[in-house]
Order: sequence, then structure tokens, then C-alpha cells
Amino acid sequence: MTALRLPLALESGLALPKGARVAVFAPRVGASLSALRDAPVHVITTTKPDYDYFAGLGYACNTAPEGRYGASVVCIPRAKELARALIAQAASVTDGPVIVDGLKTDGIESVLKSCRKAADGVAGPINKAHGKLFWMDPAPDLSAWMTPGQTEIEGGFVTAPGVFSADAVDGASQALMAELPETIGGHLIDLGAGWGYLSAMALSREKISQIDLVEADHTALDCARRNVADVRARFHWDDALRWRPEALADIVLMNPPFHSGRTADPKLGQAFIRAAAGMLKPAGHLWMVANRHLAYESVLSEAFGELREVAGDNRFKVLHARRPSRARR
Ligand SMILES: C[S@@+](CC[C@H](N)C(=O)[O-])C[C@H]1O[C@@H](n2cnc3c(N)ncnc32)[C@H](O)[C@@H]1O
Repeated sequence: MTALRLPLALESGLALPKGARVAVFAPRVGASLSALRDAPVHVITTTKPDYDYFAGLGYACNTAPEGRYGASVVCIPRAKELARALIAQAASVTDGPVIVDGLKTDGIESVLKSCRKAADGVAGPINKAHGKLFWMDPAPDLSAWMTPGQTEIEGGFVTAPGVFSADAVDGASQALMAELPETIGGHLIDLGAGWGYLSAMALSREKISQIDLVEADHTALDCARRNVADVRARFHWDDALRWRPEALADIVLMNPPFHSGRTADPKLGQAFIRAAAGMLKPAGHLWMVANRHLAYESVLSEAFGELREVAGDNRFKVLHARRPSRARR
């Protein structure tokens, strides 16, 4: 945890410029920034639940840096290309030290190796609590690590580094769309919409009147705005577990997230299923795809009156549930 490693670094020679703004890139829900309590902290995150958490604690939050900072702390994400791009971005807006922190399971050791190759004077690391923290002072020029931002993949879709299925359309999402009837219509919700593949494909059905894309990752949603250029689409940068539609919908489509950090965690997908049931009309439908090994059926049977597996193989299953139970209470 940054909260444990940062105080040790401050005792080991890391100096934060007095009174200067400190940018903290990509901290996650629950992370403590207490070691920075004397500095004006600016949290920079593109993930809505993280943004809401730190804004709720009273931190100034934004999705991108604003102006220059006296120091930066980068909490590395698991995707290495994204981690390096964040460090490069931090270095480009920081006049003092760039501090990099992360867990071994998120690849901090390989990020440390890359930094040592690319920059002189990497200090630390502080090893504690299954992670490492190191710093570069002054901030080096790492512009070679900047990513091009949005890029086009096969099919003409726009994606960005670090978003789900950044390099190619996901096979499970494709399987879901192959099963979605051509005749469906009305108001759809694409829950955890990513860069918009499901919506882009669903909108070929003319009877669809509105589609709400709900996505926690700002970067992915920006891609979706380009991939789903259709007047029927509405874009919501929000937490699917908290967002509510203005009116109950006819259909929810989803390939729910199945990771929390590095480990597969069915609880997030199960929470998506309950949230979906709460967004649907009494006769509403849920169409979803999931990894075969994830146990969603019992939650689906609790939350819906009818459930059937419509397709699948040994890797994933396409599920169709109808009549949310909430509506029958
Ligand atoms: C497995 S991906 C599916 C993306 C897209 N629907 C597709 O089929 O390609 C799950 C998506 O859910 C998003 N996500 C994770 N947690 C979320 C939350 N609490 N609220 C909204 N979206 C979330 C992730 O950022 C990711 O884009």
C-alpha cells in the first residue's frame, strides 16, 4: 500500500517540495493518501468509482492533469503499456520527483526495470507489503512511452491502451451478438459498455429507440462515442452499480467485468446481474455472456423469473434471462 511505503521513502531521502501541488495518478478505491496530508493533492483518474471515492473524501479530482505539479505519485495499473504511459504523462507535468508505486502482482518489478533502463538516478525501491515504491528526481523525459491515444483496430473500431479488448473484438462479446435476435427493439442498456462494441452492433436493429451506454472507464467511453455515432445513443460515465435509467428499459446487454485487480471475481458480475434486474421493465430481458467457469446461474435465478443458456462452448456461455423478480414483488 502506498500509505505504508511512502512514509518509509520520505524517511529514506525522498523530498516533496514544500507547499507544491502533488498529483496522484490512478489511485484505487480504499487507497489511503494520508502520507501526503500536508500537500494540496490532485487526484487524476479515469475510473468513475475511484473518482467518486476520492471526491467523496474531499480531494480535488479530474480525469486529466491540469497545469504543473511539484511532485507526482503514479499508482500503476496492471496493463504495462498503460502504466508506462501514465508515468510518462506524470513526468511531463511534474517539476520535482515522480514517485511510482505498485504491487508485485500488478507488475511493479518490471516497471522498475523499464524505468532504470530509461532514466538515470532511479532511487529506492522501498519494499513493503508485497509491493515496491521508487522515485525519479527530477522527472525524466519519458516521452517515448507516451501512447498514441486512440488507435483503430480491425473492423474500423477505435480503442485505446488499457481498455478491455483493446487489440481486437472480444470473442465472447461476438458470440453474444450472434445470438441477439434481429427483431428486438425499444430501450436498451449496455452495462459496462467498454469501447462500445455491443451497442455498435445492436444498433443495426431498426426497432431500437434508445441505447444507454454505461461505463466506468472514461477512456473507454471516449472511444465508444466515436464507435457508436448514432442519435439513439446516450453515454454515461458512471458506476453501473449505482447508475439508474430515467425510465425502466426493455433490454440489458452485457459482458460483465470478471476481474477485481488480478483475480477473477464473480462478485462483480453478480452485482451487475442484480443491478440489471433493477433497471428492467417487468417483462424485460437480460442478454449476457460470461466465462463458462463463473457461477452466475443462482444469482440469475434469484433475480429473474426465467433463465436459459442459448449458446456457448467450453470457454463461455450466452445467457438469456427474462422477467426480473423485483417486478413480481
Ligand atoms: C468485459 S468488459 C466488456 C466491454 C464491452 N461491453 C464489450 O463487450 O467489449 C467489462 C467492462 O465493464 C467496465 N466496468 C467495470 N466495472 C464497472 C462499473 N462498476 N461500472 C461500469 N462499468 C464497469 C469495464 O471498464 C469494462 O469496459
